[in-house]
Amino acid sequence: MDAKIIVTGASGSMGAAAVEALARQGRPVVMACRNAEKAGKVRADICARVPGARLEIKELELSSMASVRDFAAAFGPGEVAALFHNAGVISRGYALTSDGLEHSFAVNYFGPFLLTDLLLPALVEDARIVSMVSLTCRFAKISPEGLRPAERDFSRLGTYAESKLALLHFSQGLARRHPRLRVNVADPGIVDSDMIAMGKWFDPLADKLFRPFCKRPEDGVKPALAALAAEDGGRYFVGRRSGPIPARYRDPALQERLWRATEEILSGI
Ligand SMILES: NC(=O)c1ccc[n+]([C@@H]2O[C@H](COP(=O)([O-])OP(=O)(O)OC[C@H]3O[C@@H](n4cnc5c(N)ncnc54)[C@H](OP(=O)(O)O)[C@@H]3O)[C@@H](O)[C@H]2O)c1
Repeated sequence: MDAKIIVTGASGSMGAAAVEALARQGRPVVMACRNAEKAGKVRADICARVPGARLEIKELELSSMASVRDFAAAFGPGEVAALFHNAGVISRGYALTSDGLEHSFAVNYFGPFLLTDLLLPALVEDARIVSMVSLTCRFAKISPEGLRPAERDFSRLGTYAESKLALLHFSQGLARRHPRLRVNVADPGIVDSDMIAMGKWFDPLADKLFRPFCKRPEDGVKPALAALAAEDGGRYFVGRRSGPIPARYRDPALQERLWRATEEILSGI
């Protein structure tokens, strides 16, 4: 039996594009999605275009650590070849999840952290772990205290960027702990997807003036697909290139502090 590739947010723009590309390579994929109906339609469309695609849907609500635990419990040793942390959200306002976490941090950071940790026994020895990050990380700062931002500290793009930066640091901490894993990050650029809508009056205008210049999801996901095929780890994939994680994101001491703080927070949930 071939080990599977788990793609979170597989019903979204780049998630669906990734699933289709992987299906064309003949890889078995687990579509980890919060909305089974939406995922079912995406799966049906891909199967119509890629006969013989091996796609299974499993429910995963990343804002709920209980859902993450249920999802991970379904996989046995050696069943998972790769884990693609693709799901992500830009929360439109400050909100706490039922676990008491800020919503975008729960989905973009705590969910992927816990999911990876719980799936470690299910991974093949040299499994690939790829996380979708963002160019917004460049303008963000993160500290252990920032993992649980207060309402006064929330801003849509700022908090999103901080959660993605935390994910970037997590990837490096993970690679240090598990050197056999091939852990990489991918930056898709600016991509035409639901995510870039701001929920504001100017959205229709932006759709006309801005969206045509964004990448198509099939192109935006290419760095992540390259990362999912990479022979090594510790690389930042962007456009057609990959290189070492940029120096501005390399801070092992901070990464260890973030790791410990995250474990402590998750241990209480
Ligand atoms: N678009 C860009 O310009 C851009 C730039 C940099 C990075 N990224 C990153 O690329 C990744 C893919 O984004 P996209 O542009 O393809 O956006 P998208 O079309 O909105 O896809 C996001 C996916 O995440 C899923 N998701 C959201 N909240 C979730 C939750 N609570 N639990 C489980 N799944 C959840 C969505 O589920 P539903 O299908 O149910 O809505 C969707 O499948 C994200 O991590 C994003 O941060 C995007």
